[in-house]
Amino acid sequence: MKNYGPISSKCESMLHGADYNPEQWLDTPEILDEDIRLMKLANCNVVAVGMFSWSSLETQEGEYNFKWLDELMDRMHKNGNHVILATPSGAKPVWMAHKYPEVLRVVSNRVRNLYGERHNHCYTSPIYREKVLNINRLLAERYKEHPALIMWHVSNEFEGECHCELCQEAFKDWLKEKYHNNLDELNKAWWCKFWSHTYTDWSQIESPAPHGEPALHGLNLDWKRFVTHQTLDFFKFERRILKDITPDIPLTTNFHDFLELSRGIDYWKFAPYLDVVSWDNYPYWHGERTDEHEASRRGFIHDINRSLKGGKPFMMMESSPSATNWQPVAKLRRPGVHALASIQAIAHGSDTVQYFQWRKSRGSSEKFHGAVVDHCGHENTRVFKEVSKVGDILSKLQVVVGTSVEPEVAVIYDWENYWAIDDAQGPRIEKKDYFETCQKHYKGFWDMSIPVDVINMDCDFSKYKVLVAPMLYMVREGVGERIEKFVKNGGTLVTTYWSGIVDDNDLCFLGGFPGPLKKVTGIWSEEIDALYDDDINHVIIEESNNLSMKGEYEARIFCDLIHSEGAEVLATYKSDFYKGMPALTYNKFGKGGAYYIAFRNNDEFLSDFYKGLAKRLNLNKAIDLELPCGINAQVRRDEKNEFIFLMNFSKENEKVDLKDMIFIDMETTENITGSINLKGYGIRIISRKL
Ligand code: GLA
Ligand code: ZN
Repeated sequence: MKNYGPISSKCESMLHGADYNPEQWLDTPEILDEDIRLMKLANCNVVAVGMFSWSSLETQEGEYNFKWLDELMDRMHKNGNHVILATPSGAKPVWMAHKYPEVLRVVSNRVRNLYGERHNHCYTSPIYREKVLNINRLLAERYKEHPALIMWHVSNEFEGECHCELCQEAFKDWLKEKYHNNLDELNKAWWCKFWSHTYTDWSQIESPAPHGEPALHGLNLDWKRFVTHQTLDFFKFERRILKDITPDIPLTTNFHDFLELSRGIDYWKFAPYLDVVSWDNYPYWHGERTDEHEASRRGFIHDINRSLKGGKPFMMMESSPSATNWQPVAKLRRPGVHALASIQAIAHGSDTVQYFQWRKSRGSSEKFHGAVVDHCGHENTRVFKEVSKVGDILSKLQVVVGTSVEPEVAVIYDWENYWAIDDAQGPRIEKKDYFETCQKHYKGFWDMSIPVDVINMDCDFSKYKVLVAPMLYMVREGVGERIEKFVKNGGTLVTTYWSGIVDDNDLCFLGGFPGPLKKVTGIWSEEIDALYDDDINHVIIEESNNLSMKGEYEARIFCDLIHSEGAEVLATYKSDFYKGMPALTYNKFGKGGAYYIAFRNNDEFLSDFYKGLAKRLNLNKAIDLELPCGINAQVRRDEKNEFIFLMNFSKENEKVDLKDMIFIDMETTENITGSINLKGYGIRIISRKL
């Protein structure tokens, strides 16, 4: 498979570095000098600068101070460090908010925020855009030839929504375009005759509000789509000026970590406008979940970020070298976990390990957030040593840069589907858990070290053997046909309860669920039973099934009451009035087939189900071995080489028997045969020629 090459032509190696805020230390130049010494010791080669520097760059309207940034850029270059330069739009200066209140965001209750925090400006405000354009232009003009500049970091973690008058107008314009200036079309799409909601003039439309409209799901959905559209429009506005002045400097914006937080923005819409995808990774190690479970969640998000640009390596723009200041409990990473988590990012396709933050600030809310350099100011700390070790490992991975993976399996995780599921009232208000459900299906493969792409329903399915679409509640136009084609051509579909329910407008499909998936699954879902948290039903596996499964499994939360319309029944419910009805089916369709899992289940079922499927379809693993529990393997390749990352997410020492395979240890460059010992939380990166 092809090599994508490095992120920037100015730098061939893996990037290792941190968000750096020199503007906080301008009064203590000795600290800035010390940073240079420490960056070398930490084996860092990159800094991300300027995310929140606006008031240090434009101290008053039209009064600029670039001196400190000039010096920083020069100093970095002189010392062999690259700079990722941010546009400062993520946080505005106080003077601006006071002079131009329209730049402040209005929340859904229609109250305008006071100045405070960050990430809280109006994306529509012409004044904000004008100010952003001005500062971006000055930055781009000033540093366009600077040898240290390798990349633009546009703003910071775009998020949130604004309900001001300007945004309301923009929303209405967006709706007019979408509905061809035809209010009747909108009234139909939103099902407005319900509760007498018919609009008779465009001016009557308002964004959703806690004291206003919650009931029109079509409106809610379109508002969310508009928020993505408007945020992207703002991003594109920032992007344009940078591309005009520096067409050859690649550009990114850092996506949020936890999908719960970022669920307001559909990153698939952003991806085409980024040269490289980047994201901020803040795992919860040693917490309520086992480390292994947490690692599989991280793998899932890494894989989304890699899939966003069709497999192109991404950047882990932020991670904490120790704890955060915002997770409920700031548990320290146990020894070894820092390297493990960092290498996990590389294993899934990142070409960088970057941190928030280089140096702990002295004051304000992030003063206790983990950093490479602590308040003590020197290198003799556990964290510093672990960071420097990661830098050392990365320096040996230059050949991995630009390589990727071509999984045979894709799991669909789709933002619009998420919004629609979240909004649905029934069959349960709570515990619909779309994200968790997709992640659990993903884990079925992760546990076997089978590589997976995580895509949305608009992606090309044809390159996969298996398409997993858990809770595909919304099926957008054309998707049903594309899924049918995929299966007809030999693909295997796995879908579940609560799929094929609504169309693009959140209108229910008529003629029987799962709507456009009815033919391919060969079933009809007549009703769905929602169970209370403690209710348990069971399913009994039929003896002859193509997955070599047997016995009984629990069924909880959702039990779909389905009829086979041609599908083979692989399991039935054990009790209740739907005892004996199908709970798991397989429908042969063209050269392929579709599984329908009608009930929510525990990990045990998914684990056995996917083991059976992997065996039946002979799915490729990252490494062709049965790995001990707790050990995960990921693979990256190009035409010539294969790199395998073995990661032990358990505390126990484990041994991997390599059978007759021969590899090179990428840290020591020694040949390895026989077996590999992996300490608790240990890693090993091995390679071989293809
Ligand atoms: C986000 C931000 C950073 C920092 C970290 C703290 O990811 O982008 O500026 O606040 O959170 O974890
Ligand atoms: Zn606004």
